Amino acid sequence: MKNLKIAFGSDHVGYELKPVIMEYVKSLGYEIYDFGTYSNKRTDYPIYGKKVGEEVAAGNYDLGIVICGTGVGISIAANKVPGIRAACVSDPYSAELSRRHNNSNILAFGSRVVGSELAKMIVKSWLAAEFEGGRHQRRIDELAAEDAHDSKKFDKIKNNITEI
Ligand code: RB5
Repeated sequence: MKNLKIAFGSDHVGYELKPVIMEYVKSLGYEIYDFGTYSNKRTDYPIYGKKVGEEVAAGNYDLGIVICGTGVGISIAANKVPGIRAACVSDPYSAELSRRHNNSNILAFGSRVVGSELAKMIVKSWLAAEFEGGRHQRRIDELAAEDAHDSKKFDKIKNNITEI
């Protein structure tokens, strides 16, 4: 899974961990870009969650990685962008499953929760995993219907479940 472009973002609390993770991702062969913040001056995580979410949703970047104190705030912000499935995790297993089952396109974690070595393991597991499709695709389709505020489509998918 090389040649993928990964967008990064963090608030001031994630600012110090971000370059460590960016360098690691670069060393794995991915293209990286930093959408800020660019200093440890206090700022607001929604700015960077939104920006990275928009870049990924627009297809300018394949995936995104966002960091704040807990990963929670910045993942909530990213998830407000239609098409974004941001997973806030603090272990490699959840990171991997968020790709395989949820087709997560943004990974979020907290610099106050995980250390740099655990963060690298989380990122490695996430990048190595691939979406399994199959029954999981229907759930992604339901999420997409929600994104589109299309309740009819959501119900149609829900009412046509043949495989659990
Ligand atoms: C900033 O103090 C902190 O609230 C932020 O980094 C993040 O943890 C929010 O979810």
